[in-house]
Amino acid sequence: MSTTSTISKKAAMADPDQTSDSQPRRSRMTVPKFASRKGGEPLVCLTAYTAHVARICDRHADLLLVGDSLGMVIHGMPNTLGVTLEHMIMHGQAVTRGAEKALVVVDMPFGSFEESPEAAFRNASRVVKETGCTAVKLEGGVEMAPTIRYLARRGIPVMAHIGLMPQAMNTAGGFRAVRDEAQWDAVIEDAKAVEQAGAFSIVVEGVAEPLADRITQAVAIPTIGIGASAKCDGQILVFEDMVGLFPRVPTFVKRYGAMEAMMDDAVSRYAADVRARAFPGEEHTYAARRGGDAG
Ligand code: KIV
Repeated sequence: MSTTSTISKKAAMADPDQTSDSQPRRSRMTVPKFASRKGGEPLVCLTAYTAHVARICDRHADLLLVGDSLGMVIHGMPNTLGVTLEHMIMHGQAVTRGAEKALVVVDMPFGSFEESPEAAFRNASRVVKETGCTAVKLEGGVEMAPTIRYLARRGIPVMAHIGLMPQAMNTAGGFRAVRDEAQWDAVIEDAKAVEQAGAFSIVVEGVAEPLADRITQAVAIPTIGIGASAKCDGQILVFEDMVGLFPRVPTFVKRYGAMEAMMDDAVSRYAADVRARAFPGEEHTYAARRGGDAG
Protein backbone atom coordinates (compact mmCIF):
# COMPACT_ATOMS: atom_id res chain seq x y z
CA MET A 1 0.00 0.00 0.00
CA SER A 2 1.42 3.44 -0.95
CA THR A 3 2.08 6.12 1.66
CA THR A 4 -0.53 8.42 0.16
CA SER A 5 -3.26 5.81 0.30
CA THR A 6 -2.28 4.97 3.90
CA ILE A 7 -2.54 8.67 4.77
CA SER A 8 -5.90 9.10 3.04
CA LYS A 9 -7.25 5.95 4.76
CA LYS A 10 -6.13 7.35 8.13
CA ALA A 11 -7.75 10.71 7.28
CA ALA A 12 -10.95 8.90 6.31
CA MET A 13 -10.97 7.09 9.66
CA ALA A 14 -10.59 10.42 11.44
CA ASP A 15 -13.39 12.07 9.42
CA PRO A 16 -16.53 9.94 9.22
CA ASP A 17 -17.86 12.13 6.39
CA GLN A 18 -14.98 11.27 4.02
CA THR A 19 -14.40 8.00 2.19
CA SER A 20 -10.86 6.63 1.71
CA ASP A 21 -10.70 8.03 -1.85
CA SER A 22 -11.65 11.52 -0.58
CA GLN A 23 -15.18 11.40 -1.99
CA PRO A 24 -17.58 13.05 0.44
CA ARG A 25 -19.64 10.34 2.10
CA ARG A 26 -23.06 11.34 3.33
CA SER A 27 -23.54 10.86 7.01
CA ARG A 28 -27.00 10.06 8.35
CA MET A 29 -29.42 12.97 8.09
CA THR A 30 -30.70 14.19 11.42
CA VAL A 31 -33.51 16.57 12.30
CA PRO A 32 -31.16 19.45 13.29
CA LYS A 33 -29.10 18.98 10.08
CA PHE A 34 -32.27 18.95 7.99
CA ALA A 35 -33.61 22.07 9.67
CA SER A 36 -30.27 23.85 9.22
CA ARG A 37 -30.60 23.55 5.44
CA LYS A 38 -33.21 26.37 5.41
CA GLY A 39 -32.38 28.66 2.50
CA GLY A 40 -29.39 26.52 1.44
CA GLU A 41 -29.02 23.71 -1.07
CA PRO A 42 -32.56 22.51 -1.87
CA LEU A 43 -33.69 19.49 0.16
CA VAL A 44 -34.50 16.36 -1.85
CA CYS A 45 -37.43 14.37 -0.46
CA LEU A 46 -39.38 11.40 -1.83
CA THR A 47 -42.01 9.03 -0.57
CA ALA A 48 -41.11 5.36 -0.07
CA TYR A 49 -43.31 2.51 1.14
CA THR A 50 -41.07 -0.53 0.67
CA ALA A 51 -37.53 -1.54 1.65
CA HIS A 52 -36.31 -1.88 -1.93
CA VAL A 53 -37.55 1.54 -3.04
CA ALA A 54 -36.18 3.01 0.19
CA ARG A 55 -32.74 1.53 -0.63
CA ILE A 56 -32.79 3.14 -4.09
CA CYS A 57 -34.05 6.54 -2.92
CA ASP A 58 -31.73 6.56 0.08
CA ARG A 59 -28.74 6.96 -2.28
CA HIS A 60 -30.07 10.32 -3.45
CA ALA A 61 -32.61 11.78 -1.06
CA ASP A 62 -32.24 13.74 2.18
CA LEU A 63 -35.61 12.57 3.53
CA LEU A 64 -37.89 9.60 2.89
CA LEU A 65 -41.53 10.02 3.78
CA VAL A 66 -43.72 6.99 4.42
CA GLY A 67 -46.75 8.95 3.29
CA ASP A 68 -50.33 7.93 3.86
CA SER A 69 -50.64 8.26 0.07
CA LEU A 70 -49.68 4.57 0.29
CA GLY A 71 -53.40 3.92 0.78
CA MET A 72 -54.05 5.06 -2.79
CA VAL A 73 -50.75 4.12 -4.41
CA ILE A 74 -50.17 0.68 -2.87
CA HIS A 75 -53.53 -0.44 -1.53
CA GLY A 76 -55.81 0.95 -4.26
CA MET A 77 -57.94 3.05 -1.91
CA PRO A 78 -59.87 6.02 -3.36
CA ASN A 79 -58.29 8.45 -0.88
CA THR A 80 -56.13 8.42 2.28
CA LEU A 81 -58.93 8.30 4.84
CA GLY A 82 -59.00 4.50 5.18
CA VAL A 83 -55.31 4.22 6.06
CA THR A 84 -54.68 2.82 9.55
CA LEU A 85 -51.86 3.11 12.06
CA GLU A 86 -51.07 -0.57 11.34
CA HIS A 87 -50.58 0.18 7.60
CA MET A 88 -48.22 3.03 8.48
CA ILE A 89 -46.26 0.92 10.95
CA MET A 90 -45.87 -2.00 8.56
CA HIS A 91 -44.62 0.17 5.69
CA GLY A 92 -42.55 2.30 8.10
CA GLN A 93 -40.72 -0.85 9.23
CA ALA A 94 -39.96 -1.79 5.63
CA VAL A 95 -38.60 1.68 4.84
CA THR A 96 -36.37 1.96 7.90
CA ARG A 97 -34.88 -1.44 6.94
CA GLY A 98 -33.97 -0.04 3.52
CA ALA A 99 -32.79 3.46 4.47
CA GLU A 100 -29.32 4.10 5.86
CA LYS A 101 -28.68 7.81 5.35
CA ALA A 102 -31.95 9.62 4.75
CA LEU A 103 -34.16 10.95 7.50
CA VAL A 104 -37.22 8.67 7.70
CA VAL A 105 -40.53 10.35 8.52
CA VAL A 106 -43.81 8.45 8.91
CA ASP A 107 -47.22 10.06 8.31
CA MET A 108 -49.84 9.98 11.05
CA PRO A 109 -53.00 8.62 9.40
CA PHE A 110 -56.45 10.21 9.64
CA GLY A 111 -58.00 9.57 13.07
CA SER A 112 -54.72 8.87 14.87
CA PHE A 113 -53.80 12.35 16.14
CA GLU A 114 -56.72 14.82 15.93
CA GLU A 115 -58.60 13.85 19.11
CA SER A 116 -56.08 15.17 21.66
CA PRO A 117 -52.35 15.77 22.10
CA GLU A 118 -52.29 12.78 24.48
CA ALA A 119 -53.86 10.44 21.90
CA ALA A 120 -51.46 11.79 19.28
CA PHE A 121 -48.51 11.09 21.57
CA ARG A 122 -49.72 7.56 22.29
CA ASN A 123 -49.98 6.77 18.57
CA ALA A 124 -46.89 8.70 17.44
CA SER A 125 -44.72 7.04 20.09
CA ARG A 126 -45.94 3.65 18.83
CA VAL A 127 -44.92 4.64 15.32
CA VAL A 128 -41.46 5.73 16.49
CA LYS A 129 -40.92 2.65 18.71
CA GLU A 130 -42.21 0.06 16.23
CA THR A 131 -40.67 1.46 13.02
CA GLY A 132 -37.46 3.10 14.20
CA CYS A 133 -38.33 6.25 12.21
CA THR A 134 -36.97 9.59 13.40
CA ALA A 135 -40.02 11.84 13.04
CA VAL A 136 -43.71 11.91 12.21
CA LYS A 137 -45.69 14.13 9.87
CA LEU A 138 -49.20 15.34 10.50
CA GLU A 139 -51.67 17.46 8.57
CA GLY A 140 -52.99 20.69 10.06
CA GLY A 141 -52.08 24.29 10.89
CA VAL A 142 -53.22 26.52 13.75
CA GLU A 143 -55.62 23.85 15.08
CA MET A 144 -52.80 21.27 15.35
CA ALA A 145 -50.23 23.61 16.95
CA PRO A 146 -50.93 22.41 20.54
CA THR A 147 -50.48 18.79 19.41
CA ILE A 148 -47.24 19.56 17.57
CA ARG A 149 -45.93 21.36 20.68
CA TYR A 150 -46.93 18.42 22.91
CA LEU A 151 -45.10 15.89 20.69
CA ALA A 152 -42.02 18.02 20.00
CA ARG A 153 -41.51 18.73 23.71
CA ARG A 154 -41.71 15.02 24.49
CA GLY A 155 -39.08 13.85 22.02
CA ILE A 156 -41.05 13.33 18.83
CA PRO A 157 -39.91 15.61 15.99
CA VAL A 158 -42.83 16.75 13.85
CA MET A 159 -43.01 17.70 10.19
CA ALA A 160 -46.15 19.77 9.62
CA HIS A 161 -48.32 19.68 6.47
CA ILE A 162 -50.34 22.71 5.37
CA GLY A 163 -52.07 24.09 2.26
CA LEU A 164 -53.93 21.32 0.47
CA MET A 165 -54.53 18.68 3.13
CA PRO A 166 -55.76 15.41 1.60
CA GLN A 167 -57.19 14.17 4.92
CA ALA A 168 -59.55 17.20 4.91
CA MET A 169 -60.96 16.34 1.49
CA ASN A 170 -64.52 15.87 2.79
CA THR A 171 -64.68 19.28 4.47
CA ALA A 172 -62.90 20.97 1.54
CA GLY A 173 -65.12 19.24 -1.04
CA GLY A 174 -62.23 17.44 -2.76
CA PHE A 175 -58.52 17.95 -3.33
CA ARG A 176 -58.44 21.74 -3.78
CA ALA A 177 -55.24 23.70 -4.39
CA VAL A 178 -55.06 27.02 -2.52
CA ARG A 179 -55.05 29.63 -5.29
CA ASP A 180 -57.47 32.38 -4.19
CA GLU A 181 -55.69 35.31 -2.60
CA ALA A 182 -58.47 35.54 -0.01
CA GLN A 183 -57.26 32.22 1.48
CA TRP A 184 -53.58 33.08 1.69
CA ASP A 185 -53.41 34.83 5.08
CA ALA A 186 -54.92 31.82 6.85
CA VAL A 187 -52.29 29.51 5.35
CA ILE A 188 -49.47 31.89 6.36
CA GLU A 189 -50.92 31.90 9.90
CA ASP A 190 -50.87 28.08 9.79
CA ALA A 191 -47.18 28.11 8.82
CA LYS A 192 -46.25 30.51 11.63
CA ALA A 193 -48.30 28.56 14.18
CA VAL A 194 -46.71 25.18 13.39
CA GLU A 195 -43.24 26.72 13.39
CA GLN A 196 -43.84 28.34 16.79
CA ALA A 197 -45.16 25.03 18.09
CA GLY A 198 -41.84 23.38 17.28
CA ALA A 199 -42.26 21.69 13.89
CA PHE A 200 -38.82 21.19 12.28
CA SER A 201 -40.10 21.51 8.71
CA ILE A 202 -43.36 22.05 6.81
CA VAL A 203 -44.75 20.25 3.79
CA VAL A 204 -46.59 22.86 1.72
CA GLU A 205 -48.98 21.16 -0.68
CA GLY A 206 -50.95 22.59 -3.60
CA VAL A 207 -50.54 26.35 -3.25
CA ALA A 208 -50.02 29.16 -5.76
CA GLU A 209 -46.42 30.27 -6.24
CA PRO A 210 -46.67 33.71 -4.55
CA LEU A 211 -48.20 32.06 -1.48
CA ALA A 212 -45.40 29.46 -1.36
CA ASP A 213 -42.92 32.32 -1.56
CA ARG A 214 -44.58 34.21 1.30
CA ILE A 215 -44.72 31.09 3.51
CA THR A 216 -41.05 30.31 2.85
CA GLN A 217 -40.11 33.91 3.75
CA ALA A 218 -42.33 33.88 6.83
CA VAL A 219 -40.74 30.91 8.62
CA ALA A 220 -37.21 29.96 9.66
CA ILE A 221 -37.73 26.21 9.08
CA PRO A 222 -37.49 24.49 5.68
CA THR A 223 -40.61 24.41 3.52
CA ILE A 224 -40.92 21.30 1.36
CA GLY A 225 -43.18 21.81 -1.63
CA ILE A 226 -45.42 19.44 -3.52
CA GLY A 227 -47.40 21.30 -6.15
CA ALA A 228 -46.12 24.44 -4.48
CA SER A 229 -43.65 25.82 -7.06
CA ALA A 230 -39.90 26.26 -6.79
CA LYS A 231 -40.32 28.88 -4.05
CA CYS A 232 -39.76 26.31 -1.30
CA ASP A 233 -36.61 25.11 0.47
CA GLY A 234 -37.01 21.62 -0.95
CA GLN A 235 -39.32 19.40 -2.96
CA ILE A 236 -41.13 16.12 -2.43
CA LEU A 237 -42.87 13.86 -4.93
CA VAL A 238 -44.62 10.54 -4.59
CA PHE A 239 -42.08 8.00 -5.90
CA GLU A 240 -44.61 6.12 -8.04
CA ASP A 241 -45.75 9.38 -9.72
CA MET A 242 -42.17 10.40 -10.40
CA VAL A 243 -41.11 7.10 -11.99
CA GLY A 244 -44.33 6.74 -14.01
CA LEU A 245 -45.89 3.91 -12.04
CA PHE A 246 -49.25 5.46 -11.25
CA PRO A 247 -51.82 6.11 -13.96
CA ARG A 248 -53.07 9.56 -12.83
CA VAL A 249 -50.49 12.33 -13.34
CA PRO A 250 -51.23 15.54 -11.44
CA THR A 251 -50.09 18.79 -13.15
CA PHE A 252 -47.31 19.36 -10.64
CA VAL A 253 -45.61 16.00 -11.26
CA LYS A 254 -42.66 15.66 -13.60
CA ARG A 255 -42.21 12.10 -14.77
CA TYR A 256 -38.59 10.96 -14.73
CA GLY A 257 -39.34 7.41 -15.82
CA ALA A 258 -41.88 5.24 -17.59
CA MET A 259 -41.95 2.29 -15.20
CA GLU A 260 -45.54 1.27 -15.93
CA ALA A 261 -44.76 0.86 -19.64
CA MET A 262 -41.55 -1.06 -18.82
CA MET A 263 -43.35 -3.36 -16.41
CA ASP A 264 -46.23 -3.91 -18.82
CA ASP A 265 -43.75 -4.83 -21.54
CA ALA A 266 -41.87 -7.25 -19.24
CA VAL A 267 -45.10 -8.96 -18.10
CA SER A 268 -46.43 -9.29 -21.64
CA ARG A 269 -43.14 -10.84 -22.88
CA TYR A 270 -43.14 -13.25 -19.92
CA ALA A 271 -46.75 -14.26 -20.66
CA ALA A 272 -45.92 -14.80 -24.34
CA ASP A 273 -42.84 -16.92 -23.44
CA VAL A 274 -44.81 -19.10 -21.01
CA ARG A 275 -47.59 -19.64 -23.57
CA ALA A 276 -45.01 -20.52 -26.26
CA ARG A 277 -43.07 -22.80 -23.82
CA ALA A 278 -40.03 -20.55 -24.44
CA PHE A 279 -39.63 -20.05 -20.69
CA PRO A 280 -38.14 -21.63 -18.65
CA GLY A 281 -35.13 -22.47 -20.85
CA GLU A 282 -32.35 -24.91 -20.06
CA GLU A 283 -30.37 -22.15 -18.29
CA HIS A 284 -33.25 -21.66 -15.83
CA THR A 285 -33.58 -25.38 -15.09
CA TYR A 286 -31.93 -27.48 -12.37
CA ALA A 287 -30.00 -30.46 -13.71
CA ALA A 288 -30.58 -33.74 -11.87
CA ARG A 289 -27.87 -34.95 -9.46
CA ARG A 290 -26.90 -38.57 -10.11
CA GLY A 291 -25.59 -41.09 -7.60
CA GLY A 292 -25.80 -38.89 -4.47
CA ASP A 293 -22.74 -36.71 -5.38
CA ALA A 294 -23.66 -34.00 -2.88
CA GLY A 295 -21.83 -30.70 -3.60
O1 KIV B 1 -48.83 11.09 1.88
C1 KIV B 1 -48.00 11.66 1.17
O2 KIV B 1 -47.40 11.07 0.26
C2 KIV B 1 -47.73 13.06 1.44
C3 KIV B 1 -46.93 13.79 0.42
C4 KIV B 1 -47.83 14.13 -0.69
C5 KIV B 1 -46.27 14.98 0.99
O3 KIV B 1 -48.18 13.60 2.39
